[in-house]
Amino acid sequence: MSADRPKRFLAFDDLPAGGIEALLRRAEELRAQRAARTPHGTRPGRVLGMVFEKASTRTRASFEIAMYELGGHALYLGMQGSQLERGEPLRDTARVLSGYCHGIMVRTFGHDRAEEMSRYATVPVINGLTDLMHPCQVLADLLTVVQRRGGSRDPLRALRDASYAWIGDGNNMANSWIEAAGILGLDLAIACPAGHEPDAAVLARARAGERGRVTVVRDPAEAAAGRSVLSTDVYASMGQEAEAEARRVAFAGYTLDVALLRVASPDAIVLHCLPAHRGEEISDEVIEGPQSAVWQQAENRLHAQKALLELMLP
Ligand code: CP
Ligand code: NVA
Repeated sequence: MSADRPKRFLAFDDLPAGGIEALLRRAEELRAQRAARTPHGTRPGRVLGMVFEKASTRTRASFEIAMYELGGHALYLGMQGSQLERGEPLRDTARVLSGYCHGIMVRTFGHDRAEEMSRYATVPVINGLTDLMHPCQVLADLLTVVQRRGGSRDPLRALRDASYAWIGDGNNMANSWIEAAGILGLDLAIACPAGHEPDAAVLARARAGERGRVTVVRDPAEAAAGRSVLSTDVYASMGQEAEAEARRVAFAGYTLDVALLRVASPDAIVLHCLPAHRGEEISDEVIEGPQSAVWQQAENRLHAQKALLELMLP
């Protein structure tokens, strides 16, 4: 493994300095190559093992297609039909897959489970979502902001010229946004109800740097005021299904709707990692409206992850 090839990508801080910017630049090149139908099979014969302990549409599809288009192959292992469902430990799965694959992507519950996987694997491990972090999604979100703001030549500047609001749960997505904001020096306001704040340690780390400007407020309008990127996500994440009703009550008023969008910058874009619950965290009018970038954001999973796979897979 080369010196600057990360052993794992469980969070943004696993990347070397300048890593996010390099990935965004390469992702944009790969997007353009694909659009021009220029073959970009830079990883022939490589295999990515994909372990899913939770459901997925985008993550599975985008990683699988990314590997195919890079000239390699992706192997899907879900709970159903594998020994995971019968309790085979992740650390055993990690060692077995390391014998077959050049890298492993894992989607699981506790972040410690992904960490365990990477401790036992002898190949790089990529976080395809944990309860704590969803960095692959936020990488695609950042790429979307760069594209929408015409910043492909200077992605970092384009990102820093924008301002960001997160509306809703302080969940895995919010945490990865906070981490990115701390590393890149982004101005990010989080609006969440009491008791649903982002992870305290993630927040403290982002604020420790000189650049991080992350604030947490209660009022969605305060967070959204004048901002150029508004993001939201479901009230109840995967694994929180039993709390769904209580969360609907706790998150009343935390809806990215037309009234909220009106207080943002007039050229603001709206992001949602999907799947969305229209009428809960986002209105149908907003997600289907002209300021919504969600389909481009979903497509960007493919381009961003190709860049990531090139970095991670020897
Ligand atoms: N945004 C995202 O990760 O979607 P999936 O759950 O469908 O993979
Ligand atoms: N916060 C959501 C993201 C889904 C992509 C979840 O964890 O279910």
